[in-house]
Amino acid sequence: MATPSSNSARHREARERARQAATPRVREGAAGPAGGRPSHPNAVIEFRGVTKKYDSTHAGVSDASFSVHRGDFLFLVGQTGAGKSTLMKLLLKEMEPDSGLIRVAGRDLSEITRKKVPYYRRNLGVVFQDFKLLPNRTVHDNVAYALQVTGASRKQIRSQVPDILRLTGLSTKLHNYPHQLSGGEQQRVSVARAFVNHPPLLLADEPTGNLDPDTTIGIMQLLYRINKTGTTVVVATHDEGMVNRMRRRVIELSAGRIIRDEIAGGYGGQPQSESTAEFGALLRDEPAPAPQRRTRRESAAASSLFDDAFSD
Ligand SMILES: Nc1ncnc2c1ncn2[C@@H]1O[C@H](COP(=O)(O)OP(=O)(O)OP(=O)(O)O)[C@@H](O)[C@H]1O
Ligand SMILES: [Mg+2]
Repeated sequence: MATPSSNSARHREARERARQAATPRVREGAAGPAGGRPSHPNAVIEFRGVTKKYDSTHAGVSDASFSVHRGDFLFLVGQTGAGKSTLMKLLLKEMEPDSGLIRVAGRDLSEITRKKVPYYRRNLGVVFQDFKLLPNRTVHDNVAYALQVTGASRKQIRSQVPDILRLTGLSTKLHNYPHQLSGGEQQRVSVARAFVNHPPLLLADEPTGNLDPDTTIGIMQLLYRINKTGTTVVVATHDEGMVNRMRRRVIELSAGRIIRDEIAGGYGGQPQSESTAEFGALLRDEPAPAPQRRTRRESAAASSLFDDAFSD
């Protein structure tokens, strides 16, 4: 990964971010109820001064402000209790912030009615540490179910499920039940399920928390490939080694506060340069696509990837 070309790509990325940061933002209050524009057209996630307190001693998230742009790969790190899962739950609209503004694809989450929440969530792929598979359904049916609930036709299911199972290396396990799979395979199924709709945003909360290092690489490889298709990926993790090696953007939380936001950071330790090239090869079993310059029109389309159904 530390090749000269990827370094220059990173520098380009950093310059682009600096340029974007310097671009005047749309007035904060200018976002309309449902179709409001994001303060940056390329922002998929925006937190502005978001606070969620559980009680007086437990600050879930405190005054968090950050943006995640289309196509970003973001690691959320921090010690246990730092607020990573709280942040994910806020994004999933499982809970509401006490104050501050959260926008996803330009829409203020507080304005999505309860009835519209399921439509909103269709745009999100979600992967959990404990897989959350349906125990009485086969691999195929676990993944097909995710499509069925969105109203996909039988024809779509017949074509998309085998495709995603191939991508995730599960073609030979179609008829197995979750209890007949290893932990890594179960997590592959849950990644397949999260991605079968090709959501514009994928959230993974400790996706490798229960897996050994080799299996972890396989899951990260999948998330990396999913990100390369253009899906924005946010991964909360304790896996210091993996974060250091992947050299992606890192936001670190401590007691609910953002204490670090680095474009290509490590977990807080030193980059593991001795294995970077090998690791890069391991992670991508295909050459990484050349960094793409987005046209203004493409950049402005971050929100257009999202289903309009959740806005009124
Ligand atoms: N339902 C809840 N009620 C009260 N306090 C909570 C609740 N959920 C989380 N907390 C507290 O909020 C803080 C943040 O928790 P959170 O689960 O977001 O941390 P985390 O960074 O995901 O930790 P971990 O790495 O252990 O998963 C912690 O102090 C936690 O005890
Ligand atoms: Mg957590």
